[in-house]
Amino acid sequence: MTKVLVVYHSRSGNTAKMAQVVAEGAKSGGADVVVKKVEEAALEDLIGADGIVLGAPTYFGTLSAEMKGFIDGSVRVRGKLEDKIGAAFTSSGSPTGGNETTLLSLIQGMLIHGMVIVGDPLETGGHYGAVAVGSPDAESLKSCRKLGERVAKLAKVVGGA
Ligand SMILES: Cc1cc2nc3c(=O)[nH]c(=O)nc-3n(C[C@H](O)[C@H](O)[C@H](O)COP(=O)(O)O)c2cc1C
Repeated sequence: MTKVLVVYHSRSGNTAKMAQVVAEGAKSGGADVVVKKVEEAALEDLIGADGIVLGAPTYFGTLSAEMKGFIDGSVRVRGKLEDKIGAAFTSSGSPTGGNETTLLSLIQGMLIHGMVIVGDPLETGGHYGAVAVGSPDAESLKSCRKLGERVAKLAKVVGGA
């Protein structure tokens, strides 16, 4: 069965709420889903997944140090994440506080691993991933669910599970 891993960092719970709904979306897309706080995620979790969705709060216009540390640590599994499906989500305090630059930084790490990234062409989702301003509202949650679902569906096609 297709496996989707959702790894997130969240200090005040907003990104955590998004993670749960991304996971629900991935489940409805037919995947076996594991959700982990970044503090609890291991590199083996990355290797075992067909799809990986990373979420972090926006800190100073980029991803939190906790998530950056996890991505930096993934240098040890370089070459083993190639062709996996990836996507990103973030919560920021302000609509123009750097949420898109955060998504791009998350995606950058995945691209460097040779992963295939899921974007969104429509207004119903963020172009570079799912975004919430503060606590996710209904629109944000819809885009989280859709992102998770698409990652699961694409991971199934690419992974052939
Ligand atoms: C150290 C720190 C830096 C932050 N920097 C930004 C920022 O640059 N832009 C922004 O819009 N919000 C910023 N915020 C607000 C958080 O992104 C926002 O509160 C977010 O919803 C927190 O997510 P969480 O509840 O998952 O921890 C910052 C918060 C902290 C604690």
